[in-house]
Amino acid sequence: MSPVLVGLLGFTGTVGSALLPPLIEAHKSNKIDLVILHRESSNTSQIPSDLGITFRAVQLDDKGEKKNREAVKDLEVVISALGATAIDSQKYLIEALAGSSKLKTFIPSDFGFTFTEEELSYPALKPLQLKKEIADIAGKMNVPITNVRVGLFDYYFYAYKFAGTDVKENTVEVYHDALKNPLRITSLAYLGHAITQLSLRPSAIAGKTIALYDLQPTGQEIIDVLTKIHGKPTKVTDYTDEQYEKDMGDLVSAISASVKLKWGDNSWAKEEKVEVDGWKNKSFEELTRAFLKGN
Ligand SMILES: NC(=O)c1ccc[n+]([C@@H]2O[C@H](COP(=O)([O-])OP(=O)(O)OC[C@H]3O[C@@H](n4cnc5c(N)ncnc54)[C@H](OP(=O)(O)O)[C@@H]3O)[C@@H](O)[C@H]2O)c1
Repeated sequence: MSPVLVGLLGFTGTVGSALLPPLIEAHKSNKIDLVILHRESSNTSQIPSDLGITFRAVQLDDKGEKKNREAVKDLEVVISALGATAIDSQKYLIEALAGSSKLKTFIPSDFGFTFTEEELSYPALKPLQLKKEIADIAGKMNVPITNVRVGLFDYYFYAYKFAGTDVKENTVEVYHDALKNPLRITSLAYLGHAITQLSLRPSAIAGKTIALYDLQPTGQEIIDVLTKIHGKPTKVTDYTDEQYEKDMGDLVSAISASVKLKWGDNSWAKEEKVEVDGWKNKSFEELTRAFLKGN
């Protein structure tokens, strides 16, 4: 089978740099022909130059149409890992992809949660509407896309304490029924593996909204693991409705509050959870021990 021609945009970001290594591995084993899409100013020096990986510049503004079309004209899968401030600029990429006879699917930069209308009615979360608008533009232009929804990234759980758990300090914040409900966590390594595997069979995911997460510990399981690791009881505090309302006033804390609500009420959206081959799942305990060791 000939390799799938896959373009990756945003390879230097948090998500992009997690997608890059497994895509390079698939390129090396001739399953994928990897094309790095980058802006002129991007630092491409970290990508090995002896692997036959192609580099193509894009310019996501009113003046980039010709360059963008040239960059994506033969790509079968295009993955965008643009950061939150560049979501809107993906409309230029969609314009370039419109009418392509080669494209099987475009994966726009979403990698977030399905937010409810009620959540999006909070002004602080309005910027997230842009992701939906990008999907709508693709729909209007008949560009096939795959919406990839995830859980909380492991890095955001551990380092940024986005779910209110501090594994170093052995503390867990509980909202509503979080003790018995699962928290969806997506480790970045898993995300990279899964997106690479799915890129090998793009027709199976085109036109779909899928969910990728590899861990679902309940609050009680998190407490049990932390208690075991620290050898003393985990401090459990309540996250209150008052604090939720307060947190919904600012974009970053509102995303964190939304995770706590989805966890506490088990109100995660019911997207299709896709299983991928070849992933060796780590347990929550293994991941936590690795984080505490610093790797
Ligand atoms: N589920 C979660 O827990 C979670 C957490 C964080 C983020 N996310 C989501 O994941 C997605 C990716 O976010 P991220 O944090 O990985 O982003 P990021 O780290 O900010 O990465 C930004 C990337 O976008 C590129 N870029 C920015 N503006 C560009 C432009 N105008 N043209 C071309 N390239 C441009 C940058 O390239 P240069 O190298 O050229 O600067 C860089 O590679 C977002 O949709 C975000 O909302 C989800």
